[in-house]
Amino acid sequence: MIIVYESKTGFTKKYADMLAEKTKLKAYRVKELPESVKDEEIIFLGWLKAGKIQGLGKARKYNVKAVCASGTARTAEPDEETVIARNKVKGIPFFYLRGGCLPLKELKGMDKILMSMFLKILKSRKEKDERINEAISNIVNGFDGVREENLEPVLKWLDKNK
Ligand SMILES: Cc1cc2nc3c(=O)[nH]c(=O)nc-3n(C[C@H](O)[C@H](O)[C@H](O)COP(=O)(O)O)c2cc1C
Repeated sequence: MIIVYESKTGFTKKYADMLAEKTKLKAYRVKELPESVKDEEIIFLGWLKAGKIQGLGKARKYNVKAVCASGTARTAEPDEETVIARNKVKGIPFFYLRGGCLPLKELKGMDKILMSMFLKILKSRKEKDERINEAISNIVNGFDGVREENLEPVLKWLDKNK
């Protein structure tokens, strides 16, 4: 088993590195997967962009046994079932990991445009509950939700399957 990941701003990479350290499995960015390990079983980690797990398309060509997705919300957005369906990972063990985000002003290009649009939608909601206010603050100020304990279900799965 090897760890393969895709990370743009580093939060998913932190989880991949933590997993590698705890399990002694090797971790590779999906774009840098060496030819020599392409037949190995893979646990894949990718960040969520508009509900799509980034990098999974590329990793799919290989032997993916479990998938982790990182996003900023407390739980998968819009919800775990939708993420599983949208990414066609039904039947594959799936784990949501709370990642983080850079402050909006540090984002660039299309990501900044998409996040600004998302922020506008959130701000325009008439009734803002605690989750919405938290999401607004996280987008504007940035947020790091990476915690070792979030990996516990993944480690349990790896213990039985690696
Ligand atoms: C353009 C954009 C779209 C995003 N869409 C989602 C999403 O649909 N669901 C979610 O939970 N998080 C979403 N996020 C948050 C990222 O998935 C989260 O910040 C992730 O932990 C970043 O991982 P990385 O640092 O490894 O790139 C989005 C972030 C950006 C910039």
